[in-house]
Amino acid sequence: MKELISISSHFSIQNRQRITNNGYLSIFKIQNRQRITDNGYLSIFKIQNRSTERSRRSPKSKIQNLKLPMPITTQKLIQWKQEGRPIVALTAWDYAIAKLLDDAGVDLILVGDSMAVVLGYENTLPVTLEEIIHHAKAVRRGVSRALMVVDLPFLTYQESIQQAMHSAGRVLKETGAQAVKLEGGYPQMLETITRLVQAGIPVMGHVGLTPQSVHQLGLRQQGKTESDAQRILQEAIALEQAGVFSIVLEHIPVELAFHITQELSIPTIGIGAGKHCDGQVLVTSDVLGLSEKQPPFAKVYTNLRQIITQAVEEYGMEVREGKFPES
Ligand code: KIV
Repeated sequence: MKELISISSHFSIQNRQRITNNGYLSIFKIQNRQRITDNGYLSIFKIQNRSTERSRRSPKSKIQNLKLPMPITTQKLIQWKQEGRPIVALTAWDYAIAKLLDDAGVDLILVGDSMAVVLGYENTLPVTLEEIIHHAKAVRRGVSRALMVVDLPFLTYQESIQQAMHSAGRVLKETGAQAVKLEGGYPQMLETITRLVQAGIPVMGHVGLTPQSVHQLGLRQQGKTESDAQRILQEAIALEQAGVFSIVLEHIPVELAFHITQELSIPTIGIGAGKHCDGQVLVTSDVLGLSEKQPPFAKVYTNLRQIITQAVEEYGMEVREGKFPES
């Protein structure tokens, strides 16, 4: 036996679970019919056996080789940094994309306030707590393995520690996310983060280009001058001391991101910060070519705008020409 895990929230499994070295479930009791997940782990069954011994003896056992996904924790990310295993992160704003990302093995799914894109906002500032909670609930239903982090929107945590506590508490309670992300590493934010962490709320930091400060910073690369780079480095160090489990480094020079990554024992997740970060995150609509325009550091892996336009035009043509439906 290697680990004890608590997965009752996902699977309604009622007894303590034991997972063997190779990740196979060995002793358990599952009372209802469960749909575990796709990606090789799909199973609908009813299990009443209670021990490995009994299940091995029983030719009718349906539990042999049942592999459960291990939900990713904040501690796991820190362990992966120590092991040099890169962390794969993407954003999701709805159930369908979240499920695809989770099934494809993405480690961290961020319900980012970049969802402004799908809401048709010009930047992240108008996104509300209600909106992000609504979308995060949908994402939660699609995620069973990845660590799920939710952005606290602009002015839902900057006013006071009480406001941050209230907003973060609502996100965790109402969406089932494991963590929140906050922008900035200035003294008041450090105090807020310290209090959130003390209250048991895992927090992810975000420094460099912080899109909620777009009217001050624009969307330019940050940390280009010596003093700016020093400030960002000090903020990252202070954020680690305040208790964040990871930090997003957005749009900063590669060397600065490398230096910060070396200094910290928590993982850095880069976006436009070069290859030396402990992990990478991109906005999924950029990766899929759905965004109207992408930032310079994004890589577009497929062009869904084109694919969707072609499909919709073809459908429209077939309807107009009476080709669809065929009868
Ligand atoms: O909102 C978001 O998607 C983000 C990423 C850019 C990291 O914060």
